[in-house]
Amino acid sequence: MYVHVNAAVSVDGKLSSRAREQIRISGQTDFDRVDRIRAAADAVLVGVGTVLADDPHLTLDEEDRRVQRLRNGRPGNPARVVADSRGRTPSDARILDDAAETYVLLAEAADETDVQRLEATGATVIVAGDDRTALPAALDELDTAGVDRLLVEGGGELIFSLFAADLVDELTVFVGSLVIGGREAPTLADGDGFLDREAFPELTLEDVQRVDDGVVLSYDVT
Ligand SMILES: NC(=O)c1ccc[n+]([C@@H]2O[C@H](COP(=O)([O-])OP(=O)(O)OC[C@H]3O[C@@H](n4cnc5c(N)ncnc54)[C@H](OP(=O)(O)O)[C@@H]3O)[C@@H](O)[C@H]2O)c1
Repeated sequence: MYVHVNAAVSVDGKLSSRAREQIRISGQTDFDRVDRIRAAADAVLVGVGTVLADDPHLTLDEEDRRVQRLRNGRPGNPARVVADSRGRTPSDARILDDAAETYVLLAEAADETDVQRLEATGATVIVAGDDRTALPAALDELDTAGVDRLLVEGGGELIFSLFAADLVDELTVFVGSLVIGGREAPTLADGDGFLDREAFPELTLEDVQRVDDGVVLSYDVT
């Protein structure tokens, strides 16, 4: 499976403010770029923190791209995936509607009532890990289900875990021309952070593009 992480950050690396509300960091041209890479993906993954904060739908905006996928024998929208150890995704979350297939990546710690509640929405539940979703095992199951190309759209806790597990192949970041600040504001990679120079994931800068009022940085992860 090929894993591409994409996010929009402020100049100081924040995904949002300390209020953890969705903030418009990029503009229309970048939204279109994200729609294009979504259209190329088999599935789009977010953490439950993003579902609770932003309630994203994660479907395609451009009808033409949906039609093209259908012509190619693929589902109109990529599948939606949420990493959600305890099954905290609300039943009325937009990613659980019937616009696309949805996978919920739970851990054994999830209550059986939440497993049943999520399955009742039509979502496919994958259980991996004890207390927290074990991403390598969960992504292996997605791979078996036919997900060759996975786009990750945040947030910072999930992105850190993917880097820590050495699961990221490509990173694109839109850096907007604003400063958000705040020690409690989410950043591109939160979690516990890496301590040793050897542990810092090595990136190779492949491209720099001026887009809207910012830049898109494209990296290969080596
Ligand atoms: N600017 C952007 O591009 C962008 C994109 C997305 C989000 N955001 C912002 O980012 C914020 C949300 O980010 P976040 O960091 O709080 O949440 P997140 O990364 O979306 O979700 C984190 C949660 O995912 C669950 N999870 C399950 N398995 C995990 C694993 N192996 N590793 C890490 N997490 C795992 C954990 O909850 P459990 O322990 O309960 O499972 C964890 O608390 C919001 O403010 C949102 O607006 C911005």
